[in-house]
Amino acid sequence: MQEQSDHPPAGRSRAVRLDSFGGPEVLDVREIPAPQAGPGQVRVRVTAAGLNPMDWIITADADTAARFGLSLPAGFGTDYAGVVDQAGDGVTGFAPGDRVFGAALSRAVAAFVVIDPAAGTAANEAHHTPDGVDDRTAATLAIAGRTASAALGVVAPGPDDTVLIGGAAGGVGVFAVQLARLAGARVIGTGSATSSGFLRDLGAEPVAYGDGLADRVRALAPGGVTAAVDLHGTETAHTARELGVPDARICTVAAQVDGVPTANGANAAPGALEEIARLVAAGRLRVPVAASFPVEQIRRAVQLQAGRHVHGKVVIDL
Ligand SMILES: NC(=O)c1ccc[n+]([C@@H]2O[C@H](COP(=O)([O-])OP(=O)(O)OC[C@H]3O[C@@H](n4cnc5c(N)ncnc54)[C@H](OP(=O)(O)O)[C@@H]3O)[C@@H](O)[C@H]2O)c1
Repeated sequence: MQEQSDHPPAGRSRAVRLDSFGGPEVLDVREIPAPQAGPGQVRVRVTAAGLNPMDWIITADADTAARFGLSLPAGFGTDYAGVVDQAGDGVTGFAPGDRVFGAALSRAVAAFVVIDPAAGTAANEAHHTPDGVDDRTAATLAIAGRTASAALGVVAPGPDDTVLIGGAAGGVGVFAVQLARLAGARVIGTGSATSSGFLRDLGAEPVAYGDGLADRVRALAPGGVTAAVDLHGTETAHTARELGVPDARICTVAAQVDGVPTANGANAAPGALEEIARLVAAGRLRVPVAASFPVEQIRRAVQLQAGRHVHGKVVIDL
């Protein structure tokens, strides 16, 4: 086992823990024994954890939690960034002191997480954080970045496309809008009136969601829309159909529409996440952080995101 010499092994770890499944009120910050890296594993001193709706959806009730293999007492949060401080025997490619980011399913909001980098699953992974990407930003990339990439992988936007993106100002939306723009497409993004300036800054033309969406999109794009990604529900997918977009070029991530493909972040193309991190490092993609909270305020952070009107990402500092 290698350990970071300037960082003695910590016996205790602060972590968000749940003794029952439920809403933000079940989230507590506890002192727990620090996990130790076993053979093939690394331990990460987490400095930032990015929140996703999935975090509180999978811990909201026992049945959903069981589907994700969670049991009580449970941890919370999946996206993390930090520094490797232990590397178990047999680990290759990672050493103490390396800056890393990735996903640790429902245990990331903690001072330490143990990762099995060889597993390489979207629930148990570590990637080197490129220079030029700070930890708060790195902690936002895994779930939202992969999901946006997977959704765009389905509709494959290019310079001849006008893409309608529903829920474009949210955590996944900020990646989807910018990736579609980088692919050369024109992007129309749905949001409330409060999102319009934010969407313009990302490179999208804003349009209000809700009744009459198809007419508003027609007015913005008389030549038509050629692809659509619905990141919120089904309104954008149905609107795209009404506008003549073929089902194969429509994609949902949060709900299902018969005949329309759905995308899952876990099925993003290999290397998609590393490519997103490279784009961020190169200054070609940015991640707006709507709010960051100290871990003691985890309940407030979750309440904010669960209001479903966040623009960009919510991050917990550890
Ligand atoms: N399948 C997967 O792999 C996967 C992965 C990640 C996420 N998801 C799901 O994808 C969804 C989006 O995730 P996220 O992280 O982007 O969520 P989020 O950050 O909570 O999304 C917030 C955004 O939703 C917008 N919004 C609220 N009501 C809307 C409406 N009626 N129509 C359109 N947009 C609306 C808000 O815009 P305004 O503030 O302007 O209202 C806000 O910007 C969630 O349901 C999540 O569970 C699925």
